[in-house]
Order: sequence, then C-alpha cells, then structure tokens
Amino acid sequence: MPRLAYVDGQFVPLAAAAVNVEDRGLQFADSVYEVVAVFNGRLFDWDGHAARLARNLAALAIAPPMADAALARVARRLIAANRATEAILYLQVTRGVARRDHVAAALRPTLVMTVRPFDFAQRVGQQMAGVGVITVPDERWARCDIKTTGLLANVLAKQRARDEGAFEAWLVAADGRVAEGASTNAWIVAADGTLVTPPLTPRVLPGVTRAAVIEAARERRIAVAERDFTVAEAQAACEALITSTTVPVLPVVRIDGATVGDGRPGPITTQLAAAVWDRVAVQTGYRP
Ligand SMILES: Cc1ncc(COP(=O)(O)O)c(C=O)c1O
Repeated sequence: MPRLAYVDGQFVPLAAAAVNVEDRGLQFADSVYEVVAVFNGRLFDWDGHAARLARNLAALAIAPPMADAALARVARRLIAANRATEAILYLQVTRGVARRDHVAAALRPTLVMTVRPFDFAQRVGQQMAGVGVITVPDERWARCDIKTTGLLANVLAKQRARDEGAFEAWLVAADGRVAEGASTNAWIVAADGTLVTPPLTPRVLPGVTRAAVIEAARERRIAVAERDFTVAEAQAACEALITSTTVPVLPVVRIDGATVGDGRPGPITTQLAAAVWDRVAVQTGYRP
C-alpha cells in the first residue's frame, strides 16, 4: 500500500510529511484529533466523528479547517490514494503556527491526516478470550471530554498496563470511581443485567462507539444506566467491557488480577459486540 499523508492541502509521502516546528500542536498540544475506522475503504460512523470534532474545535475556539463535507472528501481521497481497505484514519487539527507564546492570535489551523492499515480481524480472537485491565489513578486534566492531543497521562497509563501484561488501564478518581480507559470507554453489567457506564461528565470522552453501544443495547431491550461504578463493583460485576473505534467491543475478564464473572466473555458483551459488527456491515459491507 502506498503511504501518503495529507498535510495542509497537500498529499505527500508519509516519510516526508512534516509540520512547522512552531506549530502549536507540537509546542502546546493545542490541538484536537479523531480516529475513524475504515472498512472496505469506507469511513465508519463518520457523522459521529465529524460532530465531535466540530464540538471540540468550538470548545477550544480553533477555527474549523474546512466544512464537514470537504473534510470527508479529503479523508476519502486519502483512503483511495493509499488503497486502504481495513484501516485507521487519523485526523488532527491544531490551532496553527505562531511564534511560541502561550497567547495566540486567531490563526489558520493546521490539518493533518494519515491512514494506516489495521487488522480488525485480530479483535475477533480477543473477543473470544477477553482481556485484562489494571486500574491507575486518573492524573489527567479536568476536561477529558475534549479529545485533545494532550495524552501524556493516557500514554503512561496504557504503557503501565502493557508492562503489567494487561490490555488497558482504567483511570480511577480518588474516591474509587472509574472514569474510562486510557483510550476506551469503560462498562460493566450489573447483577440485574443492566449495562452500566459512567455518565458524560468532563472526566469522560463521549465515545462514538459508546453512543453506538447505548443505541444497540436499547434496541435489544437491554437496560442501560449512565452512572458511576467503583473498581470493587466492577470486580464483582457479571461482565465488564471496553469500547472504542479500534476495539470496538472487548470483554474484560480480569481487573487488577481479579476474575470478572466466570472469567469468560459474558452474553451481553457478546451480543453488543455482534451488534456493533452488524452496524459495521450495514454501513460498509465488512464482516470480520
Ligand atoms: C480516553 C478515551 N476514551 C474513550 C475513547 C473511545 O472513543 P471512540 O469510541 O470515539 O473511539 C477514546 C478513543 O480513543 C479515548 O481516547
């Protein structure tokens, strides 16, 4: 597959793609991003990602680089130019380039997109086995609902998980409430069969997959509660799971070494994973 990136109006070889060293994304993480799944060369759940991007840009008063439809056209051209089938599209918008100063004037935003092949089929194996998570203190800033590239605390948490043989790290407030994973939303299934995920507060990213899973659960008459839960409650839950664009639904069978349920993916998680794959198939024709 050719490797082309899009940088500020140009399609360029990935190895040569570059931004200005005075880009505020590089100097201040003054930037937002989206990760969009591509199946059969088609963007999955584009509207949800475009809407979140627009909200995030508005929240930070960064000018939109172009209209949503034009953004989607660039994304599709990049996918086609890379002959990408199953892939991840990464899109970043920074406030722009200026002499380094905390205060910025109104700038022309920088838009960068890359696409790389991604093996979604590997997820099926993980869905059958389930994954482990560890819990770590949530040391992120107070506006985790905005998808900024300021991900240092997430990166360190995820690295710790991998070092300890777990797939994901759950970020936990001082009072024991789970916010979300380093790059996923967190869920449990309570004893009465209710699917539970923390509510949308500034501690939680409004995941596009989270919204799809809530919709799928309601369609299947699975009760959904957007409420907090603790690590202890999750360890004692019938099922636990994580969701994200790249996961998309994965059963969690171990939390800090404690087995969840009978240590195998539970029926509700399995049903929700199938529902999200159905959604993928409807939009893109892809089946893992
Ligand atoms: C911190 C965090 N929470 C949740 C998610 C899941 O969001 P989505 O389903 O839109 O990929 C992500 C995705 O990268 C994330 O970084």
